[in-house]
Amino acid sequence: MTSQIYSCPVCRGSIQDLGKSLRCTSCSVSFPLIESIPVFYNIDNYYGEIDRERMTRLIELAKTSGYRNAISVVIDDPWIQDYALDENRAKWINLLPLDTNTKVLDVGCGWGTNTIPIARNIKHVTAIDATIERVKFVQLRAEECGLFNISTALASAMALPYPSESFDIVIFNGVLEWLGGDDTKRTPMDIQMQALREAYRVLVSGGLIYIGIENRFSLRYFLGQADDHSFIRFTSLMPRWMAQSYFKLRTGKDYFMHTHSLSGYRDMLKNAGYSQESEYHPWPNYRHPVDFVKLNKIEIVKHLSSKIHELPFGTRKWFHCTLLRWLTALEGKGFFCHSFLFIYKK
Ligand SMILES: C[S@@+](CC[C@H](N)C(=O)[O-])C[C@H]1O[C@@H](n2cnc3c(N)ncnc32)[C@H](O)[C@@H]1O
Repeated sequence: MTSQIYSCPVCRGSIQDLGKSLRCTSCSVSFPLIESIPVFYNIDNYYGEIDRERMTRLIELAKTSGYRNAISVVIDDPWIQDYALDENRAKWINLLPLDTNTKVLDVGCGWGTNTIPIARNIKHVTAIDATIERVKFVQLRAEECGLFNISTALASAMALPYPSESFDIVIFNGVLEWLGGDDTKRTPMDIQMQALREAYRVLVSGGLIYIGIENRFSLRYFLGQADDHSFIRFTSLMPRWMAQSYFKLRTGKDYFMHTHSLSGYRDMLKNAGYSQESEYHPWPNYRHPVDFVKLNKIEIVKHLSSKIHELPFGTRKWFHCTLLRWLTALEGKGFFCHSFLFIYKK
């Protein structure tokens, strides 16, 4: 493993390596090492597409028979298998200026599906997640792929355990929307802003933040598709207070998984100090992108109009074409796209 320099997520003091743990030289807080992974966050936290028991089994199996085999044995849902393994999901890395000197922080690395292809192209990737099983999996995956330029840690996006100006690029792919549940006493917006400011702190001057995320006002939500995060229809379209009451009524839980509109994301990034570098509409979505369409009206309408001709219409072709052209014109303003990719600069 390439050596990694840490700073205390509590007081920003420097960190001393004591062999079996790390310790802050200023506030004396200790951080354990579990299977050589530094633990800067609550070990009981769990997020996953499968339950914790199955994930633990998967990791044990990966140690003896490889991560691919472990996934195919423990997970029977092909969508999840593909989500965890398909490195084409990270096709967007070609939009970033990566070279052999680049240092990347992958925040909320999940199964490492982005971490691994990024590491093949650059100097060093630091992959963090708030779930220890995810981090353990990425560590095993990196070792099996023979990639020794990956460091991992259990850490939170809101308190990064790294000194200021440590990274050239910080990645948030499908992560920002999940952060709002971290603290029930604060609004999801406050928490998301804290994560954006933390990323700003650890970026070098001129460094880039990359965000892949859904559009709160995606057309499919108006057409009745369940929200990708609450799994309940229309929640992202509602005013926040209404979504909160409705979600609480339906599930007993708080509605914290806030996505935003195009202008909402732009305001957040600007308020965190970033300036715009480039913005894309990933087609068909940011999770499995095939094309990247620059987020300007002409490019996006051209792209979506070309897709209309690929749709199998019957006798109602004219009506559908007219309706879709009208809607694509609105998508062209970024109103109704499925999702966005933002590349902003410090
Ligand atoms: C939808 S997954 C995305 C995973 C990965 N980035 C990808 O694109 O495949 C969201 C990830 O964010 C992680 N996460 C949630 N809250 C976090 C936090 N406060 N700090 C760091 N990671 C967090 C979850 O554990 C999960 O792995």
